[in-house]
Amino acid sequence: MKDKIICVIGLGYIGLPTAALLANKGYSVIGVDLNHKIVETINKGLIHIVEPDLDLFVKKALEKNKLKAFTRARKSDVYIICVPTPLHEKHKFPKPNINYIIEAVKNIAPIIKAGDYIILESTSPVGTTNKIKNILNKLKVDTKQLNIAYCPERVLPGKVMTELVQNDRIVGGIDNSSTKNISNFYREFVTGNVYETDAKTAEMCKLVENSSRDVNIALANELSIICDEENINVWNLIELANKHPRVNILQPGPGVGGHCIAVDPWFIITKNFKNSQLIKKAREINLDKTNWVIKKIKSLHNNFYDKNKFNPRIVCLGLAFKANIDDLRESPALKIANFLKASGYNIVAVEPNIDAYKSIKLIDISEICIEKDLVVILVKHSEFISKKVINRLKKSNTVDFCGLLN
Ligand SMILES: NC(=O)c1ccc[n+]([C@@H]2O[C@H](COP(=O)([O-])OP(=O)(O)OC[C@H]3O[C@@H](n4cnc5c(N)ncnc54)[C@H](O)[C@@H]3O)[C@@H](O)[C@H]2O)c1
Repeated sequence: MKDKIICVIGLGYIGLPTAALLANKGYSVIGVDLNHKIVETINKGLIHIVEPDLDLFVKKALEKNKLKAFTRARKSDVYIICVPTPLHEKHKFPKPNINYIIEAVKNIAPIIKAGDYIILESTSPVGTTNKIKNILNKLKVDTKQLNIAYCPERVLPGKVMTELVQNDRIVGGIDNSSTKNISNFYREFVTGNVYETDAKTAEMCKLVENSSRDVNIALANELSIICDEENINVWNLIELANKHPRVNILQPGPGVGGHCIAVDPWFIITKNFKNSQLIKKAREINLDKTNWVIKKIKSLHNNFYDKNKFNPRIVCLGLAFKANIDDLRESPALKIANFLKASGYNIVAVEPNIDAYKSIKLIDISEICIEKDLVVILVKHSEFISKKVINRLKKSNTVDFCGLLN
């Protein structure tokens, strides 16, 4: 297969590492992105996203003449689709938007030939891989001669270059030969196991992995609200409950963020609305937890005023969607800070992973004023976990929504 040309469509957080890895493994790789700035950046040997070691992989791939980026797909033997699959936000229950996939498929239809491999890696609603076949059939492409499969991506941002190789993969084809051939392709560069299944099971598997996390976090978030009413320390409670050999409750927080766990469960819910009651409820609980945190902060702000006769400044510790990253997508911490700011509260934030954020002023943790500030801990960044910082926070008017002080 090393003599085959691979076309990776969509050069973002998933596509660019995949293209760069395959190029370093010896394949000739064509990277495609509609965004010409991204294409120009990559062709200069540079990168437009933050991911450890990715710059080295891209630079080496270009030096070896194994990777070149374009704004349009070129004739290849393997096409890997890594375009976004966001949500249509305007619906009451957000619906998945697979328009980027449809566009990518229509763009390659005129250049596909018999024997080619078409692999979908974008997180997709069940049935999307078969939809690709139907779109191609409508465009008069003979799909009986093609290998088409879904292979979900499970990498963790920050560890993408190693996890692309080491993680187990699942490959689900539209027929047995697609599954076999495309699984064998992954076995050439993946050291983890490659499990074979059908397209629908593989699609559902990716959605279930993230829904399972969402449901489990919802239990922790629900418990945190119950414990607040009961005046029980939820962090202690969970630690003790987890001493049971078969119990493993996750940690609560100000909600669930990011572009995967907070998004993918909707792909199941909107397609199987009547039967996905638990998954839907978990999404609602995790969304409601953010609103509960906002109400709680407002009430603590009022208490502060009643006691001190002046309004405190609210200092949000963390804006990212989880600890130790700079990613603000679907971040509950950011939603909380923005909502309070828009409601007229005096908001500043400490976010060590970004330099600036629109209307919210960023301050250093040393600038917290013990007497005048109300500190709300929203993200457990490692910069906040030091004896000195924790002692200072314990002396301040601090409320902890992510268990940092525990
Ligand atoms: N980022 C992750 O950690 C992660 C993990 C697992 C799965 N996924 C899934 O992988 C998919 C891609 O995610 P991402 O984070 O890489 O997205 P991204 O937004 O970082 O990158 C997608 C790229 O595709 C380009 N694009 C859009 N339509 C195109 C088209 N028709 N032709 C060529 N390029 C096109 C965009 O310009 C963009 O650069 C999504 O379905 C996502 O849910 C992402």
